[in-house]
Amino acid sequence: MYGAQRYRWRAPKNTVIASPFSPGYIDSYTSKGSGTMSNNYGDYQLGVYLQGMMGHQPDFPFELNDVEQQAREALDPRAYWYVAGGAGAGETVRRNRRAFARWQLTPRMLSDVSTRDHRVTLFGETFNAPLLLGPVGVQEIIHPQAELAVARAAKSLGVPMVLSTLSSYPLEAVAETLGDSPKWFQLYWPGDPALATSLVHRAERAGYTAIVVTLDTKLMGWREKDLQTAYLPFLEGKGIANYVTDPVFCDALELPPASDMQSAIGHWAQIYADASQTWDHLEALRNATTLPIVLKGILHPDDAQKAMDHGVDGIIVSNHGGRQVDGAIGALNALPEIVDKVPNMPVLFDSGIRHGADMVKALALGAKAVLLGRPYVYGLAVDGENGVKHVVQRLLADFDVTMALIGVAKSGDLCRAHVTREDALPG
Ligand code: FNR
Ligand code: LAC
Repeated sequence: MYGAQRYRWRAPKNTVIASPFSPGYIDSYTSKGSGTMSNNYGDYQLGVYLQGMMGHQPDFPFELNDVEQQAREALDPRAYWYVAGGAGAGETVRRNRRAFARWQLTPRMLSDVSTRDHRVTLFGETFNAPLLLGPVGVQEIIHPQAELAVARAAKSLGVPMVLSTLSSYPLEAVAETLGDSPKWFQLYWPGDPALATSLVHRAERAGYTAIVVTLDTKLMGWREKDLQTAYLPFLEGKGIANYVTDPVFCDALELPPASDMQSAIGHWAQIYADASQTWDHLEALRNATTLPIVLKGILHPDDAQKAMDHGVDGIIVSNHGGRQVDGAIGALNALPEIVDKVPNMPVLFDSGIRHGADMVKALALGAKAVLLGRPYVYGLAVDGENGVKHVVQRLLADFDVTMALIGVAKSGDLCRAHVTREDALPG
């Protein structure tokens, strides 16, 4: 199937230093050993404090900056900067965070928040929490288990995973690891409609339930850290597993990738994106699948309207974590106007989500759910599956506690009444 006979795909080489952390305590805090957490995610902290009473200190840092620092120590500097870096002078990376600081929460008292409900229904599927693991390509530069480790963490926590086209393991292998855990596929939309259709149909057959089409990466952003070390992992044949296992991709090659990887890489570099695509091209993609289509990278209300007009099912407000256009608007700053423009369309959000309060603010401003990016990649670098689990658990716990403490029991009830813009505050 899928050209697997043509090219025997091999697991990436071990590229990461063995982790110094033992993950033992994490599992004991997930509910009833079932692998899924209760919706009162904040109870996680009780477990941590109880363990402290018994003389056990946490194996992982709770401050995200420390997780990032450990990732930095574990990784080859080129891999670290590939993840951490942004476009140009990094202005938009910083602006993404500043955008959150502009909004403030005013806690309200004496409402019943004893049981929290974070469920969200998107395109007919109900998820435990309004959080997905966002698409991040080429994870083999971070950890040899790459997307398989992330898939195991996602599955054990019941958090949906969005798999990148540029994954290090083929989408079928990741789907198998995820089992019946929720999964979406992110498409880098190649100009060749036959290849696009092939990737989408493979995703359908493997059980992915939505197609996220990323629009903001027609060209790679101007990334000075990567330029300085002349580092683009795809050109080393990393992160292209979905292509070299694709029959349409392989048909266009003179020799199978196993015999001539350099030509396969060269072909990939020519076809992975098509800078000539316009809104009109969406029709072919729309006709290729009955799965929901979600456009990622929307920052302008008029583009949100166009998405609606072209029959897509949802959008993700995102500036790709500041990796594409330096000087671009902070993603959270774009969110409210977009939600107002397309009130009937599910709007998701990413770029800058780090803490529970960030999730609360994005949901209050109208996002139905948020996607996590760099933080879980740092967890992956620190300790594979367990590192990812830790990062996600701390975020969900922080989110749950923050929401309860501002007086909200259901995340679906978060709305603009819960946030105030700094310049609108008295004093
Ligand atoms: C990404 N992102 C991304 N997006 C996408 O649609 N397909 C992809 O393959 C990738 N690959 C990728 C690699 C790396 C290393 C990073 C850091 C990011 C973008 C990602 O989905 C998301 O939009 C950003 O990561 C959000 O910003 P923060 O919150 O991570 O800063
Ligand atoms: C990136 C591409 C892979 O941001 O989306 O690195």
